[in-house]
Amino acid sequence: MGDLTGKVAVITGAGRGLGREEAIQLARQGARVVINDIDRPDAAEAAHSAVEEIKSFGGEAIAVFGDCADSADAENLMKTTLDTFGDMNIMINNAGFCRDKTIFGMSDDEFDSVVRVHLRGHFVNMRNATAHWREKAKAGEAVYGRLISTSSEAAIYGSAGQPNYAAAKAGIIAMAMGAAQLLDKYGITSNVIMPRALTDMTAGGQTAEMFAPPADGGFHAFDPANVAPLVGYLASPEAGRISGEVMVVWGSEVSILQRPKLLDAIANPKGAQKWSVDDLHTALGEHYNDSYVPVWGGYTVPPF
Ligand SMILES: NC(=O)c1ccc[n+]([C@@H]2O[C@H](COP(=O)([O-])OP(=O)(O)OC[C@H]3O[C@@H](n4cnc5c(N)ncnc54)[C@H](O)[C@@H]3O)[C@@H](O)[C@H]2O)c1
Repeated sequence: MGDLTGKVAVITGAGRGLGREEAIQLARQGARVVINDIDRPDAAEAAHSAVEEIKSFGGEAIAVFGDCADSADAENLMKTTLDTFGDMNIMINNAGFCRDKTIFGMSDDEFDSVVRVHLRGHFVNMRNATAHWREKAKAGEAVYGRLISTSSEAAIYGSAGQPNYAAAKAGIIAMAMGAAQLLDKYGITSNVIMPRALTDMTAGGQTAEMFAPPADGGFHAFDPANVAPLVGYLASPEAGRISGEVMVVWGSEVSILQRPKLLDAIANPKGAQKWSVDDLHTALGEHYNDSYVPVWGGYTVPPF
């Protein structure tokens, strides 16, 4: 089960945190792994140590540095992968960072930089991966393709202190769903994970205390290693029929999200004509009556 022997996987932002665990997981399943991270001394050291860890158990891995959202760096990532391993089968978009602020205090740069690293970062690497697979399919070659994108529950529950991050993470879901539709005919899947884990990203945030290891040394639910098996499964041949899905993953739990579904379609009681504001007030008032509670009301973090 989950054998990835002969497959080539690229993981962005894989020097540390979740990406590192995912890279190790895929290598343990037999994939040859390309570890991308930003070209900075701390990230380079982390990426090299991830490569060494994989080599220590007989796996194959290389590190390729560059900004996941930069077109030239992403092209170099793809080219180096193809030159080194001859193919590219599994694209895990994972890299990113946060610049948390409430919307009234957020600068243009705080907004743009976070949307760029997450949403554009997913876009450029998805584009390069899917273009490679399409070219192979057009040439009549067999294609094995898996896209795994990294969103966040911030995208669906909202996140009052992360308007930039939540918007980027929602955009990732939309983009991954479109890719699932488009690539189905090639047998390529596209799925989205929403992890929860104690990493550099969350160590200083509002969930840091909740994500801490238990004092009694028991199972650490928020160890990023707990997220990696789902990525390994979604990347595997056995998961070939699963596409266009969004799953929350942490600890010993995987939650499959329901797609947004129609709650009610209300027809104008006066027939085929434009609504008046008065009639909308009457019709929608039945839903939004005195017992109505906004969906975002009542909590500041997703329910755990
Ligand atoms: N940790 C959580 O609870 C959680 C929850 C929801 C979503 N996520 C998402 O999971 C992913 C991984 O986050 P993490 O918690 O492991 O964080 P992390 O900070 O531990 O790891 C992020 C990695 O991305 C790299 N990176 C940053 N900018 C980059 C760039 N421009 N190009 C290439 N690499 C870059 C960093 O150097 C680092 O190695 C992110 O997309 C994050 O938004 C994490």
